[in-house]
Amino acid sequence: MTVTEKKMVAQIQSLKKERRAIILAHNYQVGEIQDVADFVGDSLELCQKAAQIDADVIVFCGVLFMAETAAVLCPNQVVLMPDLSAGCGMSEMISVDDLIRMKQAHPNAVVVCYVNSSAAVKAESDVCCTSSNAKKIVESIPKDREIIFIPDQYLGAHVMRQTGRKMILYNGYCPTHVRMMAGELAEVIVKHPSATVLAHPECPQPISASADYVLSTSGIALQSKKTSAQKVIVATEIGMLHRLSKENPDKEFIPACSYCDCAHMKVNDLEKLLWSLEEMQYPITVSASVAARAKEAIDRMLSVSEVVQC
Ligand code: 13P
Ligand code: SF4
Repeated sequence: MTVTEKKMVAQIQSLKKERRAIILAHNYQVGEIQDVADFVGDSLELCQKAAQIDADVIVFCGVLFMAETAAVLCPNQVVLMPDLSAGCGMSEMISVDDLIRMKQAHPNAVVVCYVNSSAAVKAESDVCCTSSNAKKIVESIPKDREIIFIPDQYLGAHVMRQTGRKMILYNGYCPTHVRMMAGELAEVIVKHPSATVLAHPECPQPISASADYVLSTSGIALQSKKTSAQKVIVATEIGMLHRLSKENPDKEFIPACSYCDCAHMKVNDLEKLLWSLEEMQYPITVSASVAARAKEAIDRMLSVSEVVQC
């Protein structure tokens, strides 16, 4: 770390105390942000953390749908994002009108909404899910109910294979994970035959089919610790490798796709994070009526043991 970076980290730590702020970071954030954050995790963990937080300010280093979820769950706290351009290609693929059209075509269906969606789309949904609990959520829905799954067709298809449930899928996808090529992964596997292969469920099916485990980002972190393999092939966004290498210095992590990075996740840096705390920018707000309805879908997810009755 350079002297300037060290100074910025010290300023961030001191401003954090002054503002009673907490920094949440997603597993794909750049290393410097992960290292200064109070908590680094996957979407579900970040939601859970936001729901329990004792702080006046939450600085969310992730993408917009994650900060919106925190704003919905923490109406009494200020939620900040250091850069508003951190959207999510997948969440932007579905609008409220798209969802309403699907609901009109299938009026009795339960809508399961992957958290990678806007608060307005969540508000039109029955229950949210993340990559780590999607199977559990779908299994909690009575078997005689039709299910609409939005917006990720690959996570949806993966859950259909896991549960044997047929679902009506929206055709959205993650522009980062869709770039993974099965042929490239096969070459990496041939080069490292002793490696275990961990993939994110947003990957297209041929990638998931080649993996030993298909897991959320924090699931990948956990399995990387648990495995006895010395080499791990990682089929997800490359930001993940920072945490994996830091937590397992004795293991080798090999990206399945070295150019698969999410530009939105990478817009944050230490300078913007410091500026965000100094200027209290940019606050993320969700209108009260949307927030109330989106919260119902998120709360249903957070109490997954509850059987979904819609
Ligand atoms: P996780 O919930 O597994 O962290 O996934 C979030 C995401 O956006 C992956 O692209
Ligand atoms: Fe969205 Fe894909 Fe980036 Fe995750 S990796 S935030 S799904 S665009």
